[in-house]
Amino acid sequence: MRNLKLLLIALVLIIITFSLSACNDKEQDAKNLTTGLKATEINNEAFKKLFPLQYKSYMSNMEMEDTTYGGSEPRSKFSDDKEPLLPILFNGYPFATDYNEDRGHTYAMVDIERTLRVTDKTAGGCLSCKSTVVPQLIADMGEHYWKAGSFKSEVLPKAKAAGHSAVGCSDCHNPVNMDLRVTRPMFIDAMKEKGIDVAHATKNEMRTYVCAQCHSEYFFKAETNVVTFPWKDGLSAEAMYGYYDKERANPTSFQKDYISNISGAPILKAQHPDYENYTQGTHAKAGVSCADCHMQYERMDNGKKISSHQWTSPLKSMDTSCGTCHSSRDMKDLEKQVQGIQKTYKEALDHAEEISMNAHYYVNKMITSGVDTAKVKEAQEQIRLGQWLWDYNAAENSTGFHNPQGAMDTLMKSANASNKAIQIATEELVKKGVNISELKAEIEKAKNAVITEKDTTKKKNSAVNAYFPGQQPVVPATPAK
Ligand code: HEC
Ligand code: HEC
Ligand code: HEC
Ligand code: HEC
Repeated sequence: MRNLKLLLIALVLIIITFSLSACNDKEQDAKNLTTGLKATEINNEAFKKLFPLQYKSYMSNMEMEDTTYGGSEPRSKFSDDKEPLLPILFNGYPFATDYNEDRGHTYAMVDIERTLRVTDKTAGGCLSCKSTVVPQLIADMGEHYWKAGSFKSEVLPKAKAAGHSAVGCSDCHNPVNMDLRVTRPMFIDAMKEKGIDVAHATKNEMRTYVCAQCHSEYFFKAETNVVTFPWKDGLSAEAMYGYYDKERANPTSFQKDYISNISGAPILKAQHPDYENYTQGTHAKAGVSCADCHMQYERMDNGKKISSHQWTSPLKSMDTSCGTCHSSRDMKDLEKQVQGIQKTYKEALDHAEEISMNAHYYVNKMITSGVDTAKVKEAQEQIRLGQWLWDYNAAENSTGFHNPQGAMDTLMKSANASNKAIQIATEELVKKGVNISELKAEIEKAKNAVITEKDTTKKKNSAVNAYFPGQQPVVPATPAK
């Protein structure tokens, strides 16, 4: 009897302790979860046992499936149904040799090691949006991390030795408590320059910032080669162009990404400005974050809901990616609307690209016809502007969805600038007695040659010929350092 009483008391105690500790667990989950992982943990495998569902979802980034315009097949952007004439615009730059569509995060290392754009001269900075080891390498190697030539010889071997992961848990989470965090100094610095301290970001802002630290435009700062975001004056195409103009005003600062081999124009190559485009659109203005659409909730096999860690086209999961907010809409109908936006956008993009390409050839003819250098330079400036405004859109990944109206406006301005170059050229070429119909026919021939060449790495060679010879730059190149 007495034993039974004791047993009952013990049982009650056990139940009380258990329910209290269950409460505590919940509190901890929400507030100060501790994983037991090292603060310096950079390997995804270490997170696998603790967070099997997110890990499993993360591994599904290996899946490859295309949508009408986006998706994850590792295809060349020069494919006939994509943008086969890009090697004309990028002539003189490695992007004319090899340029693929993006795919899942798990492929980031495979793809950077595979691309022909990486050579013995590639700077260490190119690892910056690929691997979890980056913050550690920047801290350990200092300025040497950024130097030209350090990618293959030092940075890559060090990353492998450290057991890093491609775009992994520690890039966005503090391993100790799984709080969201940003880890890339270029993002933190660029925001500071705009007067924003990301240490005080709201949780909703963090759901965008974790992506913005990589999905953004950058350039290599002159002298130091440090990857830098041109954001001080704003994130629109015009504001960033203005930033680059200010850089260029100082001859020892950043001038250009390359000189066009066709027109001699000093070109800026835009790099995946997904974040910048997004900030200009309706959704960002309504406070919708990247994660709202790209990390929709996902119900796992055991019925548990998690934030999807498969970052891909939200058009593959519209019920959960869009339906949570657009609950009054039929999803098939909304998908049609998105594809309508994308189709209109793609037509405007191709139209602007066409004019930009023609402008390069017109200016090539100015140079070979001996037109006055000042006029050539004037036309080259319009080419630089036109191609930047086009590339601000072309190099982002949503085919216009992140910023539908803004994209149409920028593309119109792009076409205007490139047309201005053609107008300047035509006036001068007519004075020189150049036959403009013949010039137009030669441009079509060159384009056809680029399309007919099936080896994507050789298309760039077909873009120049005896009529349009490759150019020595007319504009002075960056002064020797
Ligand atoms: C309102 C929803 C929404 C928001 C917010 C959003 N996106 Fe997107 N995103 C889309 C859609 C829709 C596409 C087009 C997918 C397609 O064409 O298949 C897309 C495409 C992309 C792609 C290319 C995917 C592919 O299939 O190749 C990337 C990369 C991307 N977004 C990154 C971002 C980043 C980074 C942010 C935040 C800065 C962001 N997105 C914010 C809806 C959104
Ligand atoms: C690109 C950034 C990014 C990466 C990489 C990433 N996460 Fe997340 N993770 C997020 C975001 C954003 C959330 C949503 C946070 C919120 O709003 O509460 C999240 C949420 C979580 C949560 C909270 C529960 C949930 O599902 O919402 C866990 C646990 C988690 N992630 C684990 C992982 C693990 C494990 C990895 C590596 C295999 C990983 N994450 C990689 C961005 C990332
Ligand atoms: C550490 C850098 C880094 C971070 C952080 C990051 N990304 Fe990416 N992302 C990449 C790289 C690099 C690729 C291209 C990988 C490839 O093609 O091999 C990519 C590709 C993508 C794609 C294309 C996938 C496809 O199916 O084509 C989407 C969508 C995407 N990221 C969305 C996001 C979102 C949303 C976030 C924030 C939650 C984010 N990324 C955070 C570096 C990053
Ligand atoms: C977190 C909420 C949220 C999510 C998720 C969301 N939207 Fe929206 N969407 C909005 C808001 C808010 C507006 C602006 C409504 C307004 O101004 O009437 C909007 C506007 C739109 C518009 C009007 C066109 C425009 O951009 O101005 C379209 C189309 C659209 N959303 C499609 C989508 C698609 C497709 C997805 C999924 C990939 C999606 N949305 C995900 C909240 C959301």
